[in-house]
Amino acid sequence: MSEQGSKPVRIGLLGRGTVGGAFAALIAERAAAVEAACGRRPEISGVLTRGEGDFDEILAASDLVVELIGGTGPAREHVLAALRAGRPVVTANKQLLAQHGDELFEVAREAGVQIRFEAAVAGVIPIVRVIQESFGATEISKVFGIVNGTTNFILSEMAATGAAYEDVLERAKELGYAESDPSDDVNGADAAAKMAILARLAFHTPITLAEVAYEGIETIQPDDLAYAKELGLSLKLLGVAERRGEADLSVRVFPCFLYGGHPLAPVSGPFNAVMVEAPAITEVTMSGPGAGGTQTASAVLGDVVSILAGEAPVSRPRERLNLVTDVGSSFYLHLEVADRPGVLARIAQVLGDNGISVKSVVQRGIGDDARLVMVVHECLESQFAAAVEEIGRLDDMRSAPRSIRVIEEEFV
Ligand SMILES: NC(=O)c1ccc[n+]([C@@H]2O[C@H](COP(=O)([O-])OP(=O)(O)OC[C@H]3O[C@@H](n4cnc5c(N)ncnc54)[C@H](OP(=O)(O)O)[C@@H]3O)[C@@H](O)[C@H]2O)c1
Repeated sequence: MSEQGSKPVRIGLLGRGTVGGAFAALIAERAAAVEAACGRRPEISGVLTRGEGDFDEILAASDLVVELIGGTGPAREHVLAALRAGRPVVTANKQLLAQHGDELFEVAREAGVQIRFEAAVAGVIPIVRVIQESFGATEISKVFGIVNGTTNFILSEMAATGAAYEDVLERAKELGYAESDPSDDVNGADAAAKMAILARLAFHTPITLAEVAYEGIETIQPDDLAYAKELGLSLKLLGVAERRGEADLSVRVFPCFLYGGHPLAPVSGPFNAVMVEAPAITEVTMSGPGAGGTQTASAVLGDVVSILAGEAPVSRPRERLNLVTDVGSSFYLHLEVADRPGVLARIAQVLGDNGISVKSVVQRGIGDDARLVMVVHECLESQFAAAVEEIGRLDDMRSAPRSIRVIEEEFV
């Protein structure tokens, strides 16, 4: 962006909903602070909504474009047009970046302008900046965390109150932590989009949303959480992007139990937290609010300040890593069985035959039946799936086995 003395920076604002409205208010409130930080005063020079503004006129009258429409339709066209016209762009749009990142970064490079997107991942936590800049030359081995506040609120409430998933989801909607259609949050798709963005940045590899395997929290039962408490575990929906070996990468989203003492275990309510691991830094954990109009708008404003302040980090894929899905994990296994002699031995036999060893077991009688809840040590997911299928076929079983991954690592 060319230096224009003390002339104001004209911002074309696309979208004035929850985040766009908060951003416009923030600009009015913080314009002097932005000027003090980077020498130029921002002003909103035009606004586009469904009922207001003309994109071409807004673009012509702007120095910088902020896209807060969402989705991959008009938002994509407008962002590409703005970049091609030489305007730096700030966006909070995770879907756009997770699905069209390659195209956007390429066009931005060709046009020699910045595209910034801190607000698209992990709410207010400045994880994009930290990965791109602070750890830009660090060999990152793993980025993982809680990147969806809605599901973290639901799981925290279920654990604290014992309430059913459906009841807590309704409460989340009432409190504004879940949208009226929360599908993408609870099925893991929203977290998957964020992990695609983080994996691309951390591992310098082109990866899109379609390549991220994800599972959600819709089938979690209150008793899973109650038993897990007895085993000292708490449940989170985790996004994990992890380098495995020389050329392999695993990027996934799944519900997962954590032992107390793990840095992510105490993160509750609608909060996000992200951990970065690398041999050179050991680990870094950051947490903060996962969403909200004002909070997201302040992350957008931070990107505006960064653009006005100068150079952008380069976001160029350096290598193509192989995506692997059959990785090692520890598991929680919940079994409803007939209360008769030898059941535990038969189950242990199947696990043993599949090379799986048991870490801990909780056993309860319920009438003529019994419940066995156990945590098994790390094994390949395919190994565990084979054992569970075999256990499911035993005559002793009263319902289908239920399982959830566990991070076995115990922090002190
Ligand atoms: N809400 C959050 O807490 C949060 C957190 C992180 C990231 N984000 C991201 O921020 C972005 C905006 O989210 P939001 O919650 O602010 O959405 P929102 O409240 O639904 O607002 C969307 C805005 O875009 C406008 N718009 C929609 N379609 C349009 C079109 N075809 N042409 C022009 N304008 C159009 C709407 O116009 P009308 O006013 O005419 O309806 C509205 O002003 C999304 O990418 C979202 O993923 C949101």
